[in-house]
Amino acid sequence: MRNADLVARDLKSVWHPCTQMKDHESLPLIPIKRGKGVWLEDFEGNRYIDAVSSWWVNIFGHANPRINAAIQHQIGELEHVILAGFSHEPVVNLSERLIEVTPPGLNKCFYADNGSSAIEAALKMSYHYWKNQGKPAKKNFVNLSNSYHGETLGALALGDVSLYKDTYEPLLMKVMTAPSPDAFNKEPGETDEAYALRQFEAMEQLLAEKHDEICAVVVEPLIQCAGGMRMHHPVYHTRLREACDRYNVHLIADEIAVGFGRTGTLFACEQAG
Ligand SMILES: Cc1ncc(COP(=O)(O)O)c(C=O)c1O
Repeated sequence: MRNADLVARDLKSVWHPCTQMKDHESLPLIPIKRGKGVWLEDFEGNRYIDAVSSWWVNIFGHANPRINAAIQHQIGELEHVILAGFSHEPVVNLSERLIEVTPPGLNKCFYADNGSSAIEAALKMSYHYWKNQGKPAKKNFVNLSNSYHGETLGALALGDVSLYKDTYEPLLMKVMTAPSPDAFNKEPGETDEAYALRQFEAMEQLLAEKHDEICAVVVEPLIQCAGGMRMHHPVYHTRLREACDRYNVHLIADEIAVGFGRTGTLFACEQAG
């Protein structure tokens, strides 16, 4: 097969995610035959560095021998079983390991099949918790400006990137938005830390005024990735943790893009102390 053959077949049959397909009239698709480590290779032997880690999910490299061997072993033993009402050793092993490595207080694992559905589950859990506590008025979520949390309707509502959101606005739940601590917007001469603290004042005020109506604040710790790889100082999260405790509001750290060692600590929120 030649690159051009696959591209022609692809354009007849596939809609690509987060893509305006018309763009591919001028911007060629990159057909990939195989991957190894950081490298991807097309059908004619051209190699590419997968610098975006295939949408930041491929943190251990393509065709990782240890991961492949574990998948091959498991698939011969038990490829799938319903998790409602049943259990199996891999899910218990994984949960125990995750509880060991995640920050203290995170003592149970719930599995979703992608980032967006993990966000949906977190929103539902938070609302459900407050309802069980006799506080059904707590039914709003707070996000940060320029945030991104996924494409399903709840996750999309929680994001603030108009490119993804505007078309679907009439379908989306309303959320409360606090200004991002994004250091890109600081004043000349202002430190990242001072800017994060200054931006936190609006969050503090929102929580002070509306905490009785708020289930949770949802943030992407340290980097708003889909929002343009915008970074901010960790002190924002130190203050936010303390304020969420004070106002009885859940804090949901969306580490879908930054977790598992991608910012220098295993989880980005660890840098808030
Ligand atoms: C911070 C963040 N949250 C949620 C998501 C959604 O994850 P998924 O694409 O697996 O649904 C993404 C995806 O890029 C993300 O960067």
